[in-house]
Amino acid sequence: MTRVEDVFDTLRQVRYPGLEKDIVSLGYVTGVGRVGERLVVSLEIGTSDAQAAETIEREARRRLDEAGYGYELQVTRPQPAKAESAPERQVQFEDLLPEVTYKIAVASGKGGVGKSTVAVNLALALAELGAEVGLLDADVYGPSMPTMLGIGDQKLGMSGEKVVPPRVHGIRVMSLGFLTQGITPIIWRGPLAGRAIEQLMTDVDWSGVEYLVFDLPPGTGDVQISLSQKGNLSGAVVVTTPQDVALIDAIKGVGMFQKVDVPVLGIVENMTHFECPHCHERSEIFPQGKLKAEMERLGVPVLGDIPIDPQVATAGDAGKPILLAAPDTAAARAFRQLAVRITEVLKDPRT
Ligand SMILES: Nc1ncnc2c1ncn2[C@@H]1O[C@H](COP(=O)(O)OP(=O)(O)OP(=O)(O)O)[C@@H](O)[C@H]1O
Ligand SMILES: [Mg+2]
Repeated sequence: MTRVEDVFDTLRQVRYPGLEKDIVSLGYVTGVGRVGERLVVSLEIGTSDAQAAETIEREARRRLDEAGYGYELQVTRPQPAKAESAPERQVQFEDLLPEVTYKIAVASGKGGVGKSTVAVNLALALAELGAEVGLLDADVYGPSMPTMLGIGDQKLGMSGEKVVPPRVHGIRVMSLGFLTQGITPIIWRGPLAGRAIEQLMTDVDWSGVEYLVFDLPPGTGDVQISLSQKGNLSGAVVVTTPQDVALIDAIKGVGMFQKVDVPVLGIVENMTHFECPHCHERSEIFPQGKLKAEMERLGVPVLGDIPIDPQVATAGDAGKPILLAAPDTAAARAFRQLAVRITEVLKDPRT
């Protein structure tokens, strides 16, 4: 079976036209993984020079063909209009929240896999362990926390210049959904979304918070970029579901964080199995094992799996997450185990 390293070696032979630099060291190779029998390679050719991008793609295909892989190549390129009008942005890394010990982003490449569910239950489970926990709803396009925690428009208090995040079920929560009188989704243009995230960090009183959990929108947009550059994240937790299509997105999600030097703490696989509430027998929903094998190759641990349980969805809709609504269920237990695992990984990344 092809090793990821071999594929990278093959792609290292592809150089940027006219330069010594190869596309791996330029960070254009954003994901290599195996889905079933197929090898999936994703390239993000981040140059505004269309001709150079075409040459790179052609050369990459030629090398992969020569190496004899049965592969699928996914190529993304910057939009020409954007690349022409915007001058190269200087990347600057900052930490807008130095007082918060651990900042954890819950992310996914694909929408609807359970990020918000994982984020809220993880935050509550960390609080159960005795920590001071904040939950920042970074999904500025469609905030979920007002529904998931059963709190709509809020009269927010101020502490000096800063907004005091409401305390719900023992955690501090801030969401733009508290301010928009139920008007969602909000349409943000790119830079505004990034700015909104910055304000949620700097203009909200997170002092004394030990773990701040960020619930991200899906994909790899402006929110993810802002957070990676300004949030000094301790790490990202990438949520996926066990279908092949989601695995491809999970590989991309991992690649995105690795590219910007945010450590990927690990993967959470959601809705993997069903545990009978009566006899506790476990039934797998999809064939198992692919994710773990794939993540091992990428050097990313699988932190846990969460069973599918209709109560998870009803609890989320009713504003009382499963951890509190049905604390003895297999799903609630899985979220507690996940929280413990994450504290271990944060304290010692080698565990
Ligand atoms: N383990 C589970 N068992 C049953 N239902 C679940 C489970 N996890 C999530 N769900 C349900 O799946 C739906 C999507 O979950 P959620 O909103 O957490 O996903 P998301 O990744 O945050 O979505 P988005 O990308 O839109 O932000 C919700 O209705 C949620 O209640
Ligand atoms: Mg969500």
